[in-house]
Parts: sequence; C-alpha cells; structure tokens
Amino acid sequence: MIRAGSSKATNNDDAFLKLKIDLRIDLLKNIEKPKILDCFAGDSVLWKTVEKKTRIQFERITIDADERYKTDYTMDALKYIQKNELNDFNIIDLDTWGSPVKYIDALIKKKYKGFVVCTYCSPVSLNPDKILALNYYGEIYNTIKKKSLLCKDIGLLFRQWILSKGVTEIKGITTKKKIYCSFEIK
Ligand SMILES: C[S@@+](CC[C@H](N)C(=O)[O-])C[C@H]1O[C@@H](n2cnc3c(N)ncnc32)[C@H](O)[C@@H]1O
Repeated sequence: MIRAGSSKATNNDDAFLKLKIDLRIDLLKNIEKPKILDCFAGDSVLWKTVEKKTRIQFERITIDADERYKTDYTMDALKYIQKNELNDFNIIDLDTWGSPVKYIDALIKKKYKGFVVCTYCSPVSLNPDKILALNYYGEIYNTIKKKSLLCKDIGLLFRQWILSKGVTEIKGITTKKKIYCSFEIK
C-alpha cells in the first residue's frame, strides 16, 4: 500500500476529477435513499464535493486502511466486504489506487446487488490482472509462460469480464490504461 502523502500517491487525478464526481452524482439520481459504502474514503474529496454540488441527502459509511483519515472503519476494504452484510448499501464506492477487480469479485461472490462506482488507474506493469485475464483467455492463461506479453488493455479486459457477470451497462470511461466507471450488479 502506498501511503497518502508519499510522492507516489495521487488520491484524485485532477484530469478526471470532474468525471469521478459526475459519475457519483449520476448514481444518486437513480436511488431514493442512497446508502453508500465508501471503501477507499481517504479525505472524502469526492463525496464532499458531491454534497456541496447537490442537495441530495445520503448516508455514507467510510473505510480506509490508513488511520490518519479517521474513517468509520480503519481496515482493509476487502476484509470488510468479505465479513460484513452489504445488502443495506445501494452504492459501493471502490476508488482504489490500483485495481478494483478483487473487490468487485468479492462483491459478486457475496451476491451483492446494487450500484458500484470504481477507479482503476494504474497501468498493469508486467502481467494482466489475473481475474480479468482468466476470463479473457480462459484456462489456457494458467499454462502461458510469458504472461507479460499478453493483452494489457485493462479497459477491454474489464468490459469483457464485467459484462460476463450480468452487468448490461457501464457508464464512464474504460480505456487501455484508466477506468473510471459505474455499473449496476443485478
Ligand atoms: C484514491 S485514494 C481515495 C480518495 C478518496 N476517494 C477521496 O474522495 O478523497 C485511495 C485511498 O485508498 C486507501 N487504501 C489503500 N489500500 C486500501 C485497502 N486495502 N483498504 C482500504 N483503503 C485502502 C488509501 O489510504 C487512500 O486513502
């Protein structure tokens, strides 16, 4: 985990900040009583801005692994997802630094139904994301030796994977190296 405040941490990429905020505002419009599980809450820049820009009331439970953010839960978001009841939440926010895929996978395994908004902002340096690659290449992926040579277009891999999970619409952007999107798991 890169700690916030280090030279490598970019909590909100300025170029995409508006898109990230707009995706969240759009989700609120779909839901009568929004209850959000904000898994990577950090400084809460996104939802505080949403709050200022809209008059929509929402409840938000916050998680961050870094105790300096004083969130409701200081812990690994994956552990929270795996161990807690999620049915009360209708929006799950996965504004991760790296890949949100293992968290989405955990949500699907828990049969969570509702909206997800996520960020995937680090290009895969050597290997494709394993969960995405297994879906794209099938079992043959495990036998391929030079995994670093395989497709690393995370937008393509991500779309194929999430659409295979019954998601019918993805809003936002899913490009080769960056994903800022929302979708509903039904
Ligand atoms: C992109 S920033 C979040 C920015 C935030 N959404 C906002 O609106 O300001 C990512 C956050 O994830 C936290 N983090 C990193 N790994 C984590 C994990 N496994 N579980 C929970 N939080 C984690 C970091 O401490 C950091 O605050």
